[in-house]
Formats: sequence, structure tokens, C-alpha cells
Amino acid sequence: MSSTKNNWPGVTLIDHPLVQVKLTQMRDAAAGTQVFRSRLTQAATLMVAEVTRDLSTRPCVVRTPMADHTGAALARPLIIAPIMRAGLGLMEGMLHLLPDAGVAHIGMFRNEETLRPETYYFKAPANLAEADVLVVDPMLATGWSATAAIGQLKERGAKSLRFVCLLSCAQGLEQLRAAHPDVPVFTAAIDPELNAKGYIVPGLGDAGDRYFGTVG
Ligand code: URA
Repeated sequence: MSSTKNNWPGVTLIDHPLVQVKLTQMRDAAAGTQVFRSRLTQAATLMVAEVTRDLSTRPCVVRTPMADHTGAALARPLIIAPIMRAGLGLMEGMLHLLPDAGVAHIGMFRNEETLRPETYYFKAPANLAEADVLVVDPMLATGWSATAAIGQLKERGAKSLRFVCLLSCAQGLEQLRAAHPDVPVFTAAIDPELNAKGYIVPGLGDAGDRYFGTVG
């Protein structure tokens, strides 16, 4: 897995060629639900390796068919926190590599007049304080949903958080980094614009609608 540092402190740009290819296929307006969904899942699975690269491990003894072996287990529990709806797509791909992760569902919708997030659901495992928490949403647009979701997780005790998205833009990164400078951000692309309706341009449209087939 490759990644590059960039001009944004605390932001890792995941530039692995396979992630970039999947993302390009998702951007294509001609891609239907099946293609969009599978590419989002696949990109999320690929991104996990980079996002979890510096997690701590502890020694763990297993008995092979030949002898005891001291290997590694994750030192802390992992929790994936998808911001619904679209975050569920990233979550699904990540669970392929992290099948024992807990899940904290955060239900938010965007008030289309104010563009501000409103929370309608929050349910998290009890071990938030001990866990490494991956907050996931394919799109970091205004940054307000991510900021609010991370704020809620911190209020309930989360201490070690990372934010993972596929696409971001300057406004979202500025907002999130200013509100939560302790939370590293992982993104596969930083697009040039956010339009007046809060959509990333060129972006990929409405990720939730495209993933769940609710367009039109
Ligand atoms: N949410 C989306 O689904 N797409 C955008 O471009 C911005 C926010």
C-alpha cells in the first residue's frame, strides 16, 4: 500500500493505484449501482491497510502444527463508526479485513437549507474509551458531519480516532482539522471545489444515493 504526505498536516493521501482506479470507476456517472457499490467496497478494503498501519500489537502465542509461535494480536479493540447512510458502504469493505471490529452507527442527515448535519441515531459499543475508532464517510464535503460525529464519539469517551473518506476538499479538511486537530484524516483524493449546494466537484455525486440506488 502506498500513501503520500501532502500539504495538509495530519492528512494522508492514499494514492495506491488500485484505490485510484476504483475511485475513477465510481466517479463515472454511467456506473450503475452494482459497479458503484462493488468499487466502494473494494476501495474501502484496500484503504484499511494504510489506515491501520501504525496500530499497536501485543505478543500472542499460537500453537502451529509444529511448535508454539509468538505472533501478534491487535493491542486494542477496533470500532468502525460509519456516518449513515453512505458510511455503511465504507464500513462493509473495511469489515472484510476487520471482521471482529465493533460498529458505532451514527445516523445523520443533511438539512438541505442550512447544509448542517442533524443526528437521528447514535448507538455505539460500550468500549469506546479503550478502542481505536475509525470514523468513516465516503465524502468529506463541508466537514460538519464529520466534525459533529467525532464530537459525539469524544463526548461518549472515545480517545483514539481516525477519519477515513474517499473524497475530500479543502473546505472539509480545514473544518475538520481545525475542530479536531488530534484526529488524523485518510483520503484517496482532495478535489478542487465544493459547490454552493455542498457537493464536491468533480466528486462523484451523492454517494448515498448511488450506493443504495435511490437516485431519481
Ligand atoms: N455528500 C455526497 O454524497 N456527495 C458530495 O459531493 C458531498 C456530500
